[in-house]
Parts: sequence; C-alpha cells; structure tokens
Amino acid sequence: MKRTVGPLCAPIRDAIRVPGDKSISHRALLLAALAGGESRIRGLLRSHDCRATRGCLEDLGVGVVDGEDGSVAVHGVGLRGLQRPSGPLDCVRSGTTMRLLAGVLAGQPFTSLLTGDEQLLRRPMARVVDPLRRMGARIESEGGRAPLRIRGTALRGAEHHLEVASAQVKSALLLAGLTAEGSSLIHEPGPSRDHTERMLAAMGADVRVDGRTIAVSPTGRLAPIDLSVPGDASSAAYWLVAATLVPCSRLALTGVGVNPTRTGLIDVLRAMGASIEAENERIEAGEPVADLMVEARALRCTTVEGETVVRMIDEFPVLAVAATQADGTTVVRDAGELRIKESDRIASTVDSLHRLGARIEGRPDGFVVDGPTRLYGGEIDARGDHRLVMAMTVAGWIADGPVTIDGAERVEDSYPGFFAEGERLRRRA
Ligand code: S3P
Repeated sequence: MKRTVGPLCAPIRDAIRVPGDKSISHRALLLAALAGGESRIRGLLRSHDCRATRGCLEDLGVGVVDGEDGSVAVHGVGLRGLQRPSGPLDCVRSGTTMRLLAGVLAGQPFTSLLTGDEQLLRRPMARVVDPLRRMGARIESEGGRAPLRIRGTALRGAEHHLEVASAQVKSALLLAGLTAEGSSLIHEPGPSRDHTERMLAAMGADVRVDGRTIAVSPTGRLAPIDLSVPGDASSAAYWLVAATLVPCSRLALTGVGVNPTRTGLIDVLRAMGASIEAENERIEAGEPVADLMVEARALRCTTVEGETVVRMIDEFPVLAVAATQADGTTVVRDAGELRIKESDRIASTVDSLHRLGARIEGRPDGFVVDGPTRLYGGEIDARGDHRLVMAMTVAGWIADGPVTIDGAERVEDSYPGFFAEGERLRRRA
C-alpha cells in the first residue's frame, strides 16, 4: 500500500498516549503462558508482531481471552504444560517471537517447527541456536536461518559469553534456563533491554543481575501476573522527533516506558539541544514510566556510539531524520546490528533520505549526516520495515513536498494507530 504524507503546516500541540510496549507485550504473553494460573494484561499492544506471539501460544494450547475492558486474560499452563502443536508455528515477521520461543521450546518434550515470512527467514538465527545447543538443545536450522526444527529435550545450565548485546538472545537463554538442570550465567557485552529479567523476577523466578552478568536458576513455577504495559518508548520516538523539528510545537506523551535500557534516543536528542522533560516518574509493574513533555528546538550535531547504540537500537531511522535538520555532522558508529533488522536499516535509511535530498552517507557500522538540509518530497520503498515507514512519515511532515511511502501497511507490525494519530494532529492544527 502506498501512502502519501504531506508537510505539517502548523505546530504540534497536543497530548498523545502511545500504544503498549512491543517488547513487554511479547514477554507478558509468553511468560503468562508459562505461569501457573491466570494472568491479566492491560494495555497489551495489538500489533501484527504481538499477534504472532499470541497465535503461536494458542497453537501450543494456551488459552488467551479478550476481556470486555480491553484487557487480556492468559490461562497459564505452567513451565511444562505446553502441548505439541498440530502444525508449524508461524512467527510471521516477528524476530522476537521466533527467538524467544526457541528458548522456550528447546526444553519441551515435543518437536516443533518455527517458521515465518520470507523476511524473517532471511534473518540470522545462529546467534540463538548456537548457545541453546550448548545447553543440549537439538535444533536444526537452514544454514543458521529459520525454519527451525526443535526436538525438545532435557537442557542443562551453561555459561554464555554473548558476542552481541541482543535482548532477544539473552531472553531465549533465560527462558531455556528456567527448565534446565543447573544454573545458567549470561554475560552480555552491552546494556540490552532488561524487560525479561524484570518480569521473571516479578513472577518469582530466581534471576540475579550483577552488572553485565545475569544468573538464572531453574524454577518449578512462575506466579501469574497482573500487568499494565507501559507505552512504547520506540513508538514515542517518532513524536519526540516530530515535535522537536516542527517549529513552535509542544507535545505531551503520557505513560511512556523510560527503562534506562530504552532511553538512548532521549539522551541523544537532549545532547543535540532538544527539550524533553520527564514528569510524574513512577514505577508500574517493575518498569519505570513517565510523561514526557517535548518542545520544538533547533538541533546541533552529535556522535552516537558504544553503549548508547544498544539503548536506542530501534531508533536510528528517525534519529537520521533529526540529524538532517541538525547543524553540523552527525556520526553514528558501532551500529552494525542495524544491517540485520527488518531491513538493512543503514542502507534503507541512507537510500530513503538521499531520495529526499539529505546529505547522508552509509558506513559499514553506521552513517554520517551533514545538516541542516531542506528535505524535498519524493517516493520511498519501505522495504517491509515498519520503523522506516514511521521515520519517513516524520520526514514527510517536515519536507517541502509530499513523501510517498510504498509498503506503508507495515506500520501495523508495531504501531497500528500511527497514521490515525498523525491525521488527528493535522486536523487539530
Ligand atoms: C527486541 C530486541 C532488539 C530490538 C527488537 C526487539 C526485544 O533486537 O531490535 O526490536 O524485544 O528483545 P535484538 O535482540 O536483535 O537486539
């Protein structure tokens, strides 16, 4: 589907509540399914990716029921209560679904097949298969890619030194560790999102964090949860950048998750001169949450590298849009992981912004942007990547002419109401 976005001709002055966090929604469904009893989840993200997790769990015999109040009840079957699925488990385009489920299914007493769309079948799975094999898992892949045939077996605890800071890999190993014999230790090279650790601890699992090392011991039972999912910081990112760039804007984003493993973009935008204030900071279900107030500001260039990259790994397409308007040369390095997301996000971001007139160049592990430049209208191929769709929409709002995005329907993977929210802002302006 093609969608054309025109320039926003007036300031953004409003309040927005972004939908529930995608990472936390996947984990809430998955861990609630493994709990001993009924969990209730409020504010669950209803996106294609999270629906993939729900569908797989239903195929594994887990009851998931929508309540009239918008919440979801999950009838947990316990750590060893999943049922052999009658066919392949379809993870669609969701890497989180596939990698986390691999960790769960490796220790179940049946064989399962994890598959998905062509886009997901291209993404690397060896990073999760190899360490699971060290725990005794029997997994066959297609040269390190899905489909994954998992012949469930008894696992043993292991010590893992992860080469990349990946929350999906870490989470798969933590989930496998819950049913393994003996404890597992995971050393991670950077601060990847820690939602799994927080949720497991809240459910009574023996998970201990010491710096970059996480220890997990097998557990007999996870307690059910009653959880309100915070707003997704990665979805808030588009509004943070839009309200910073559109002159005279003042926007409130309410109930956004501000877990420090997710707030790299806020730190970077502030270093570039953005005005982002956190108010009403609170803890909800073990996760820090705040209301964010953002006001338009002129930006200056910055360098993003090291651990900050991990803390904003999904926000680089929209950071690049911000950098086109910043004074000076913005440099992103240490971000080679971007090449294996839903698209090669270095190539897709650089090519798209080039088409709109930006001065941006790719590097093997990042990109360099010279600003400020006026962006023109143009046509962009979203390459099946929801985050590119939203970042280029923000570009369209500040461009001189209309931006047409081919494949805009992919927005449904993480933020179904995104365009409706944009239209609402336009009408109110
Ligand atoms: C996610 C982890 C990150 C992120 C993805 C969601 C998660 O991936 O990019 O969108 O929910 O654990 P990696 O684990 O590959 O870094």
